Amino acid sequence: MPGTLASDYAAWSKLQQLYDSKKQSLVLKDLFAADPDRFKKFSREYSAPNASFLLDFSKNLIDEEVFAALIQLVKEADVEGARDAMFRGEHINTSEDRAVLHIALRNVGNTFTISEPGVDEVQGVLEHMRVFSDSIRSGEWKGYTGKSINTIVNIGIGGSDLGPVMVTEALKYYSKRDLRAFFVSNIDGTHIAETLKECDPETTLFIIASKTFTTQETITNAETAKEWFLKKAGDKAHVAKHFVALSTNTKAVTAFGIAEENMFQFWDWVGGRYSLWSAIGLSIALVIGFDNFKALLEGAHEMDKHFTSTPLENNLPVIMAALGIWYGDFYGSQTHVLLPYDQYLHKFADYFQQGDMESNGKFVTKAGQRVNYQTGPIIWGAAGTNGQHSFYQLLHQGTKLIPADFLAPANSLNDVGGDKHHRILLSNFFAQPEALAFGKNEETVKKELGPNASEALIKSKVFEGNRPSNSIMFPKMTPSTLGALIALYEHKIFVQGMVWGINSFDQMGVELGKILAKNILAQLNSPEDVVGHDSSTTGLIHYYQKNRA
Ligand code: F6P
Repeated sequence: MPGTLASDYAAWSKLQQLYDSKKQSLVLKDLFAADPDRFKKFSREYSAPNASFLLDFSKNLIDEEVFAALIQLVKEADVEGARDAMFRGEHINTSEDRAVLHIALRNVGNTFTISEPGVDEVQGVLEHMRVFSDSIRSGEWKGYTGKSINTIVNIGIGGSDLGPVMVTEALKYYSKRDLRAFFVSNIDGTHIAETLKECDPETTLFIIASKTFTTQETITNAETAKEWFLKKAGDKAHVAKHFVALSTNTKAVTAFGIAEENMFQFWDWVGGRYSLWSAIGLSIALVIGFDNFKALLEGAHEMDKHFTSTPLENNLPVIMAALGIWYGDFYGSQTHVLLPYDQYLHKFADYFQQGDMESNGKFVTKAGQRVNYQTGPIIWGAAGTNGQHSFYQLLHQGTKLIPADFLAPANSLNDVGGDKHHRILLSNFFAQPEALAFGKNEETVKKELGPNASEALIKSKVFEGNRPSNSIMFPKMTPSTLGALIALYEHKIFVQGMVWGINSFDQMGVELGKILAKNILAQLNSPEDVVGHDSSTTGLIHYYQKNRA
C-alpha cells in the first residue's frame, strides 16, 4: 500500500522469524526425503488455449509455512488491488502521472474494460502494422528504384531495441528467411557503420523506433542512416519509401522528415521496456509475419487473464515474485540468473535485464521513503549449455546464493540427427537443477576418490547443494508460448515492485548520466579546457584529448 514500507507488513516480520528459525532446516535433500508429495505441492501447470507450461518450484528453500507467509505478504501488500488498478487504467505510474497499459495492447476480445485515451486506437495501429508488414513481406512495397525490400534495419535503443531483438531471435524459426533484419542501438559509430556495409539503399527499410523520438543514440544513428541513404538516392522524396517511425511524438517524427502516414503510433502509457507489444513490435511482425505477432499478443493476453483471475497461491507470476523476495530480502542474494536451455532464447536474460532492473532498481518508495530492504535483483544469464562451460562453477561451488530459473522446451524445433541433440540438451537441463539442489557430500567424494586422496582434493570436489531454482518446461517454442512467458516475467516484476512499494514504471536513474554527458559533449566540442569536473574525470578527458588523432 502507498506509504507503507514492505518491512512494516506483519507477513514480513513473520518471514524474518521463519528465516531465523528455519534457515538451518530448510535443506532440500531433507525436505524432499521427508515429503514424497513435494513436487506435487510445489509445482503448477499453466494451461491456456494457446500455450502451456509447467512451473516446478519445488527446488526452493521453502516449506508450506514459508510458502503461506510469502503468499500472505503479497496479500497484505494489496498487490491484487494494485493489479486491478493497473488493468483499469489508473495512473499507477505516479511520478509521471501515467497509466501502465501494455496489457491494453494485447487485450484480445476486450476482456478488460479500460478507460484511457488512446486505448481505442490500438486496433487501428495493429491494422496499419498488418497492412504494412504484409506489403513488405509480399514484395508489393517497392523502394525508390522499384525493387522490393529485402533488408530491414531497426534503429532504437533500450526498450525500442531489446524486445524486438529478443523476440525475433526467439521466434527465428518462424521468420521469413529472405528478409534480413538488423538492429542498431549503440551510439558507437561502429554499430551503424558495420550494418550499413551490409545494406543496399535500394532494398533497405529503416525503422526508427523511439517512444520519445529524442533519444540521442537513436536520432544520431537515424540521421546517419538518412545521410547514407540520400547520398545514393538523392531526392528527399525517396525517404518515404525507406524510412518509417515508431513513436508517440508525431511532431519530432515529421521534423525528422518522415511523413505521418509512415508513422506507427503508440501512447505514453506504454513503458519503453513493455513496448514490444506496441508499434515497437513492427520489426517482429515483419520478421515473423503479422499472424505470428498476433499469436504472441494472444499468448500474453492469456497470461494476463491468469494473473488477474487466479488465486494467489496458484498464480504463477505471484509465486515467482514471492520466491524472489524470499531470497533477495531474507537470504541476502543479490542476483537472479535466467538460464534458458533453448538457443532461440539466447537474448532472454538481456531483455529482462532492462525489464527487471530498470523497473525495480530503486531505493525510494512511491511515497519517497528510503527503503530499508533490498529491491530489484541483478538479472543475468546465458543460454544453456554454454553457461555450464563458463560461470556455472560459481553457481555450484561459489560463495554466493544465486537463485536460478531454468527454462526449456520438451521438443526442439530443429530435427538434427533425430532428437539426439535435444536429448543431450535436456539431460543437462534436468541435471543442473538437481546438482544445484542436492550437491555431492564429502562421504561420496571420499568413496569415489579412494583412500589415497588428499583432504584438499576431497574438499575441492564437494558440492554443498541446497542452491535453489525454478524449472519451467513447455512443449515447444511458439509465438503464443513466448508471449505467455514474457508476460509471466512482466507480472512477476510488477508483483515484486508493488510489495516493495516502489514505482516500477519510471526510470529516473538513467537521467543523471545523460545530463552529465550532454555537458561534457559541449565541452569536448569547445576549444577551451574542460572545467567543473573532479580530478579523475578531468584526467580521463585530458588523456583522451592528448591521444585523439
Ligand atoms: O534511457 C532509458 C530509456 O528511456 C528506456 O526506458 C527506453 O526504453 C529507452 O531509453 C529508449 O527510449 P526511446 O524509445 O524514447 O528512444
